[in-house]
Amino acid sequence: MSDTDEHEGTRRDFLYYATAGAGAVATGAVVWPLVNQMNPSADVRALASIRVDVGDVEPGTQITVKWLGKPVFIRRRSDAEIAAARDVALADLADPIARNENLGEVDASDANRSLSEDGEWLVMMGVCTHLGCVPLGDAGDFGGWFCPCHGSHYDTSGRIRKGPAPTNLPVPPAVFVDETTIKLG
Ligand code: FES
Repeated sequence: MSDTDEHEGTRRDFLYYATAGAGAVATGAVVWPLVNQMNPSADVRALASIRVDVGDVEPGTQITVKWLGKPVFIRRRSDAEIAAARDVALADLADPIARNENLGEVDASDANRSLSEDGEWLVMMGVCTHLGCVPLGDAGDFGGWFCPCHGSHYDTSGRIRKGPAPTNLPVPPAVFVDETTIKLG
């Protein structure tokens, strides 16, 4: 069972919001599609953009939300996770590119992948870049994510460090719109 399946299939405390064909699922956080009923293209925009309340996410934990039909990991990293990610020499990275849609083609330093300047927040697609499984959190040889399908290990910045996955987990368009709300898309 994948991490996402567990969150979506067995826990009772999650919330479902399905509006205009866009489904969103979260554990421990409120997620809602952006819908402007007055606008005829609201359904399209609901698919493209969601807001996630991360006010209840504790350091060292993450939530998984669904955006554009795919899981997105939103992690509030502990100081140790941030330090581990920032201690890595760029030369040690298998994929030297940040894969961050918010920045263009820049190097894969942790600062170029985390959402907040202090490194506390990391947002990335929860889809293994090998063949698309959902990696498990708090797992693997680098303390980040582990994809059990074929053994890909990602570090605490979501960068591929070992195994067949060719690239780092992509960072989607994301921004804090207030202190506790992240907008995806
Ligand atoms: S799909 Fe993740 S290692 Fe193959």
